Formats: sequence, C-alpha cells, structure tokens
Amino acid sequence: MTRLEGKVALITGAARGIGRAFAEAFVAEGARVAIADIDIARARQTASEIGAASARAVPMDVTDQLSIAGAFEMTCAELGGLDILVNNAAIFDMAPIPDITRESYDRVFSINVAGALFTLQAAARVMIAQGRGGKIINMASQAGRRGEALVAVYCASKAAVISLTQSAGLALIEHGINVNAIAPGVVDGEHWDGVDALFARYETRPIGEKKRLVGQAVPHGRMGRAEDLTGMAVFLASADSDYVVGQTYNVDGGNVLS
Ligand SMILES: NC(=O)c1ccc[n+]([C@@H]2O[C@H](COP(=O)([O-])OP(=O)(O)OC[C@H]3O[C@@H](n4cnc5c(N)ncnc54)[C@H](O)[C@@H]3O)[C@@H](O)[C@H]2O)c1
Repeated sequence: MTRLEGKVALITGAARGIGRAFAEAFVAEGARVAIADIDIARARQTASEIGAASARAVPMDVTDQLSIAGAFEMTCAELGGLDILVNNAAIFDMAPIPDITRESYDRVFSINVAGALFTLQAAARVMIAQGRGGKIINMASQAGRRGEALVAVYCASKAAVISLTQSAGLALIEHGINVNAIAPGVVDGEHWDGVDALFARYETRPIGEKKRLVGQAVPHGRMGRAEDLTGMAVFLASADSDYVVGQTYNVDGGNVLS
C-alpha cells in the first residue's frame, strides 16, 4: 500500500527502536523520511540501511532550539517540505522518591516534554507556512496513564505529553494539522534493556527478570515489539485520521483500558 505516497516525515529518535520501525513503515507506504537523532552515527547507519532514496540522516538534539530549527531546515531543503512529524525521542530514568535528583528531573523533562513541545512548535510553524496541513504524532506511554512508585518523573513526563497532545490538537486543527499520540505499553528493545537494568538495581532482581514479569502480565501474553506499533503510526500519519483530534491511543496488548 502507499498511503503516504509523496509525503515527507521527520521522526525524532529514529536511529533505533520504535522510531526506526516507524521510518521503515512510512517508507514502505511511499514517504521519504528524515531520521533525526542526537546519535548521528547510528542515524546515518539506519538511513543507509533503509535506503538513500527514501531516508536521510539529520542531526538533531531536541533540547536545543538551534538544532531543532536546523533539522527542519535541512529536511525541507533536502526532502521537499514537511507533512508528518513523529515526536519520538525520549529518555527513561527511575528512582525512589527520596532519591530523585534535580539533574535527572531536568534531563527527562527537557527531552521528553520541552523537547516534544518545541519540536512540535517548529513543525507547526513549517506546516502552517506551507498551508497544506499535516500530521503530528507524539509518543506518550502507559506510564502517562498511571503513576508508578519508582518511576515518578518519567510517568509525569508522559502525562505531560498526553496533555500537550490535547492542547496542540485543539490549537492546530484549524490549520488542518492533526495532533494525536500513541501510548505503548512495554516494548522490547534497547530502551527496555535499560529499564530492566534499573529495576534490577532498585528491586534487587537478576537482569532480565523484570522483562519476563512485565511480558507475562500483558493480557496479550507477551511484550510488544516495535512492529506492533507501526499500524497505528501509519494510520495517524495518513488521511485516514483526518477527523481524529487530540487523542492518545493505547497500543499495549491490553495493559490499559480507557
Ligand atoms: N520501549 C518501550 O517500552 C516504550 C513504552 C512506552 C513508550 N515508549 C516511548 O516510545 C518512544 C521510543 O522508544 P524506544 O523504545 O524506541 O526508545 P530508544 O531509547 O530505543 O530510542 C530513543 C532514541 O531517541 C534518541 N534521543 C535521545 N535523546 C535525544 C535528543 N535529545 N534528541 C534527539 N534524539 C534523542 C536516542 O539516540 C535514540 O535513538 C519514546 O518516546 C519512549 O518513551 C517506549
């Protein structure tokens, strides 16, 4: 299928994991994609594996306004405009409440919340100036639906993403820009390797045990894979979602019912 034929997408944090799977799915649907990441070496590798005709590595640090602006300029100049943004870059951290540091809070919020907001703002400016609408997809999480004792900061950051999705959705639909979000559950990959290692430390478990437990607890019966999310991402990036505004969709094997 070619539901994104001729469209240009910028995906933050697309060098690996879920963002990379989205890039591959969008290219398969006919889009050209900017693989925007702070890890530019890995972004280049990913872009070359996807194919130079459809994917371009773009250096981008979502905490830096100049870097955000530069990434959109490069994408528009080299790929011919901007139709789709996926605000995917994020980091995870956890600690018991008495041990949370200001430094951890600032880092998580500057990437997951301010990074998402100002990347969305830059994309909206480009899309409004182009006058051909657009699609913005924010990556929330089941962590944004319910707090967790050891994960206060990350959970709060993802709750903020859900709220920003609603406000931006309401603000931008008059320009034909749909803003929606995806809330994954537990998706296996390098991100969850890091989460598992942190739970091993704070819950005194062997490496790999937390992953096994969270996978068993998913009603579907296993952890998610990045590919489990691509159908929702393509839907939200395509004209099929033109009447969908400010929503956050759980794609989590049944973990959250709302
Ligand atoms: N994996 C999961 O279980 C899970 C669950 C719920 C939500 N999510 C969300 O889905 C999204 C993707 O998750 P993932 O598992 O692929 O994560 P990941 O850690 O594998 O990939 C994140 C990417 O973001 C990039 N990045 C980090 N800081 C950046 C910055 N300042 N500027 C630009 N890029 C930066 C990294 O280099 C990396 O390529 C994130 O928003 C995450 O919070 C993931």
